[in-house]
Amino acid sequence: MLAPKNALLTLLLPSSFFSLALCSRADSPIPARTHHCIVRSSNSTTTDDSPAVSQAFARCATDSIIIFPEGANYNIFHPIQATNLSNVEIRMHGNLHLPQNITAVQSIVQSGTSSWFEISGPRVDWTGPPSPNNGWINSYGQAWWDANPPNATGLPNRPHLISYTTSHASIKYFRSRNPIAHNMRLHGDDITVTHAIVDAYSTGGFPFNTDGFDVGGTNIRITDSVMYNGDDAIAIGSDSHDIVFARNTIGYQSHGMSIGSLGKDPSDFANITNLRFEDVTVIDALYAARFKSWTGGQGLVKNVTWKNIRVYNVTFPIFVTQSYWDQDSSRGDVDETSSVMMEDFTWSGFSGSINTYQPGDGSCASDPCWYNSGLPDLEHTEAIVMECNSKQSCKNFVMENIALYPQSVEPARVVCINATAELNPGLGFDCRNGTYTP
Ligand SMILES: *[C@@H]1O[C@H](CO)[C@@H](O)[C@H](O)[C@H]1NC(C)=O
Ligand SMILES: *[C@@H]1O[C@H](CO)[C@@H](O)[C@H](O)[C@H]1NC(C)=O
Ligand SMILES: *[C@@H]1O[C@H](CO)[C@@H](O)[C@H](O)[C@H]1NC(C)=O
Ligand SMILES: *[C@@H]1O[C@H](CO)[C@@H](O)[C@H](O)[C@H]1NC(C)=O
Ligand SMILES: *[C@@H]1O[C@H](CO)[C@@H](O)[C@H](O)[C@H]1NC(C)=O
Ligand SMILES: *[C@@H]1O[C@H](CO)[C@@H](O)[C@H](O)[C@H]1NC(C)=O
Ligand SMILES: *[C@@H]1O[C@H](CO)[C@@H](O)[C@H](O)[C@H]1NC(C)=O
Ligand SMILES: *[C@@H]1O[C@H](CO)[C@@H](O)[C@H](O)[C@H]1NC(C)=O
Ligand SMILES: *[C@@H]1O[C@H](CO)[C@@H](O)[C@H](O)[C@H]1NC(C)=O
Repeated sequence: MLAPKNALLTLLLPSSFFSLALCSRADSPIPARTHHCIVRSSNSTTTDDSPAVSQAFARCATDSIIIFPEGANYNIFHPIQATNLSNVEIRMHGNLHLPQNITAVQSIVQSGTSSWFEISGPRVDWTGPPSPNNGWINSYGQAWWDANPPNATGLPNRPHLISYTTSHASIKYFRSRNPIAHNMRLHGDDITVTHAIVDAYSTGGFPFNTDGFDVGGTNIRITDSVMYNGDDAIAIGSDSHDIVFARNTIGYQSHGMSIGSLGKDPSDFANITNLRFEDVTVIDALYAARFKSWTGGQGLVKNVTWKNIRVYNVTFPIFVTQSYWDQDSSRGDVDETSSVMMEDFTWSGFSGSINTYQPGDGSCASDPCWYNSGLPDLEHTEAIVMECNSKQSCKNFVMENIALYPQSVEPARVVCINATAELNPGLGFDCRNGTYTP
C-alpha cells in the first residue's frame, strides 16, 4: 500500500521529533571523533591495499579519524567507496598509488565505476601534511596521456579521481599527482579547500580533461592552492551559489577559471549566483577567466567577479561564449533563440601578457581547433573575446583596469558581439571588433 509521504513520516516518528531535530541541529555540539582507525599498509609494490582501506572506512565511518600514517604507501588497485561517512577526518599523511596497468583500470571503469574514490557524508574533513613530500595520491596519468593517439581526445574509460560530497567540512593539503582525468568533483555546502596541489603537468601527451575542481553547491571556498593541469582549474556547474576561488596559482595547459559549460541539456535550468575569483596568477594557459554556455540553454548566472588576475602568456585572458561546443560530442536540435542569461559580471584588475607567438595548446584535435572555432580573424592579440548569443543575454557587464598586452606589444584587440551599450552602460569600451580602447 502506498501511504502519502507525510502520513508515513507521522507513523514512524513521534510528533516531537521535528522540534527536537531542529533544536539538536542548532544546539548540540558536534560529537567527538572518538574512534581511530590506523590503516594497515603492505608497503609493497604488488599487494593490493584497497581491501584494508575499504575496511577502515567501514569500521570508522562515524565520529572517527581514519589515519594513513606518514611513510606508509598504499596500492589502491580497486576503487574505494566510502559513501556513508559522518563526522570523519581522513588524515592522509601516507601516499596512495593507483594501478599502473591501463587495461586493468579501463576494464574496471567500463564495468561502471566512474570515480576511483567516492566519498560522501556530512562533516568529512581531509587533512594532508603541511610538508609537500607526503599525502599524495599518485594516479600515473602520464602513461595514459602519452598513449593517446594523434588527434584523439583521450583514451577511453579513463577514471575520474575523486567524487567528494560533503557539508561543513574542510579539505587541507590535498595532493594529487597526474590524475588520469578529472581530479575532484566537489559538491555540497560549506566546504573550504586550502593548500591543495593538483599537479597534472604533462611532459608528453596532452593531459585531456584533467579538471582541477568541478564544483557544485553553496558556500564553497578554494584558496591558497596550486593547479597545473590540462582543462579547467575550476569549473562551476549548476546549481551553485557563493563560491570563492582566491589566492591560487594555475597554469600550463590550464583552461582557466570557468563557469560552465552550462545549458548543454536545454531542459536543465542553470541557477548560479555570487561567484568571486580573486587574486589568481595564471601561467601559459589557454584561458584565464571563462564563461561557456551552449546555444539553446536556459537559466541565469548572476553576480560574478574576477578581480586582480595576473596572466603570463595566456591565449584568451577574458573569454565569454554563449555558443560553446565540445569537440567530441553532438546534440539534437535546440531552440537557437534561448541562452543562459548572464547578469552583473565584473572583470576588474587584469594584468599581464597575451600569448601571441605560440597561441593555443595541445588540446586541439580538429580543424579549426575547437578554441578557434567561430573566430576566423584572430590575431592572438585579443585581450577580450565576448560573444553573446542575443542582444538580451548579456546584461550589466563591467570591465575596469584591464592592462593586458600582446607579446608583440601591439595594441590589444577585442572581439565583441551583442554586449549592447543599452544593457551594459559600464562595459568600459565599445562592443565591436577592433583595438581595445577603454
Ligand atoms: C615503506 O617503504 C618505504 C620505502 O621502502 C620506507 O621508506 C618506509 O619506511 C616504509 N614504511 C613503513 C610504514 O613500513
Ligand atoms: C550507514 O551508516 C549508518 C550508521 O551511521 C548505518 O546504520 C547504516 O547501516 C549504514 N549503511 C550502509 C549502507 O552501510
Ligand atoms: C594488466 O591487466 C590486464 C587485464 O586485467 C592483464 O591481462 C595483464 O596481464 C596486466 N598486465 C600486467 C603487466 O600486469
Ligand atoms: C536558484 O537557487 C536559489 C537558491 O537555492 C533558489 O532560492 C531559487 O529559487 C532558484 N531559482 C530557480 C529559478 O530555480
Ligand atoms: C555578490 O556576490 C558577492 C560575493 O562575491 C556578495 O558579497 C554580494 O553580496 C553579492 N551581491 C548581491 C547583490 O547579492
Ligand atoms: C607560451 O605558452 C605556450 C603554450 O603553452 C608555450 O609553448 C610557449 O613556450 C610559452 N611562451 C613563453 C614565452 O613562455
Ligand atoms: C590531425 O589533424 C590535423 C588537423 O585536422 C591534420 O592536419 C593532421 O594530419 C592530423 N594528424 C593525424 C596523425 O591524423
Ligand atoms: C567580429 O568578429 C567575429 C569573430 O571573428 C565575427 O563572427 C563577427 O562577424 C565580427 N563582427 C563584425 C561586425 O565584423
Ligand atoms: C546577436 O544578437 C542577434 C539579435 O539578438 C542575433 O540574431 C545574433 O545571432 C547574435 N549574434 C551572434 C554572433 O550570436
